[in-house]
Amino acid sequence: MKLSKLTLLSAATAGVLTLSSAAPASAQLKPEAPRVKTVNMTGDPKAGEKVYLQTCWSCHGLAGDGKGPAAGGMKPPPTDFTSAEALKQRSEGEILDAIVKGKPGTAMYPQPLDPQSIVDVAAYLRTLARTPLQEKTLIEALSRGDKEAGRLLYSSRCWPCHGPTGRGNGPAAPALKPPPADFSDPDRVIARTGARLYRVLTAGVPGTAMAPQDLTEKEKFDLIAYLRSLVQYSEIKNVPGDETPEGDARSGKEIYEKRCWSCHGSRGEADGPAAVAMIPPPTRFADYEKMKDRPSAEWLSAIQSGLAGTAMYPQRLTDREAWDLVAYLRTLGRRKSEVP
Ligand code: HEC
Ligand code: HEC
Ligand code: HEC
Repeated sequence: MKLSKLTLLSAATAGVLTLSSAAPASAQLKPEAPRVKTVNMTGDPKAGEKVYLQTCWSCHGLAGDGKGPAAGGMKPPPTDFTSAEALKQRSEGEILDAIVKGKPGTAMYPQPLDPQSIVDVAAYLRTLARTPLQEKTLIEALSRGDKEAGRLLYSSRCWPCHGPTGRGNGPAAPALKPPPADFSDPDRVIARTGARLYRVLTAGVPGTAMAPQDLTEKEKFDLIAYLRSLVQYSEIKNVPGDETPEGDARSGKEIYEKRCWSCHGSRGEADGPAAVAMIPPPTRFADYEKMKDRPSAEWLSAIQSGLAGTAMYPQRLTDREAWDLVAYLRTLGRRKSEVP
């Protein structure tokens, strides 16, 4: 059954959407009218969540943050519904329209759903947006997570699949497809935001052995703190001795704009899109007063070897590239007097 934009738009205003497969003409309204299906236009977010977890999450992400497994390299990327701005400016009709008709020229294809499911999933999308206050509450709850309590829970309930050290190699793992997540993989750190881990523990990963976990709120945050400590970085590379080669800030800038801005921010303000809810937050290179005394050798080591227990993973760059980056990072500092 096809829904025209007009039907949906006028229905949104009327409050109730009446659909008939037998195309009733208003003239022949008799008591025994053809079978009519009524769609509740308020939408049921709970039912919508089910639809979302079947149809939408692979692109828009389990947490609604646009970071689903199918999203890598997608242009434009899937909408991040957790951003308070994402749907704020959109009317109900526009949202329904995007789902029914898709967004031509993007990966958002028309979603083959029945009308009630469309209205329900749209209602669910609205629940994903986090206000700055909720964001703050989440960050606070994440910072209270107790790693040791998380470790105890993990070693009683998670290791048979995820492995004793989180490498995804527990005794039950060989039988599982897809395999259990490997929490030691530094390349997955960006995707594993606090919001996403929280959502997985609450809702599981549909279609996999990762079932929703019966946990209290506190237990979830304790586990998240522990999971985050399982990332393993490669061995420390040699840091060159006394001589500090002059890096080339121009080529450093090129690398920075590809690999570093998502956390450290395009101007070194630590406000990149991946930095939200990151604990500890990325270093703010724009803070000249704080950064001017940081030794270049320590920065080089942070870039090459990462900083254990943080999202700063080893960057797999040559020494030359790392020095170029250090030179560029120095140009990001702005004295307080320069800040408008
Ligand atoms: C194959 C990947 C993919 C799937 C599956 C998918 N989407 Fe999308 N969706 C996208 C992309 C990419 C965009 C961004 C398009 C753009 O920026 O114009 C998008 C945009 C949207 C928008 C428009 C937001 C706006 O700014 O107007 C809505 C609403 C939406 N998706 C809802 C859904 C729902 C609901 C489902 C599941 C029923 C779903 N999407 C499934 C990729 C996907
Ligand atoms: C029966 C096996 C099994 C058990 C028990 C299990 N998991 Fe999982 N888990 C999986 C599988 C399989 C996946 C991979 C799903 C996928 O590929 O998307 C997964 C994925 C995850 C993810 C998502 C990681 C990511 O970034 O994609 C998290 C978080 C997670 N598990 C946490 C836990 C925690 C915490 C526990 C214990 C309370 C636990 N799991 C118990 C099988 C299990
Ligand atoms: C996934 C997010 C992420 C990415 C990507 C990232 N960083 Fe970081 N970085 C961090 C975090 C978080 C810290 C702060 C760790 C802490 O406070 O201990 C940090 C710290 C650093 C530090 C240490 C600063 C100091 O004074 O101690 C340097 C240097 C650095 N990053 C450079 C880079 C460069 C260069 C790149 C790109 C090649 C990069 N980072 C990419 C998250 C990231």
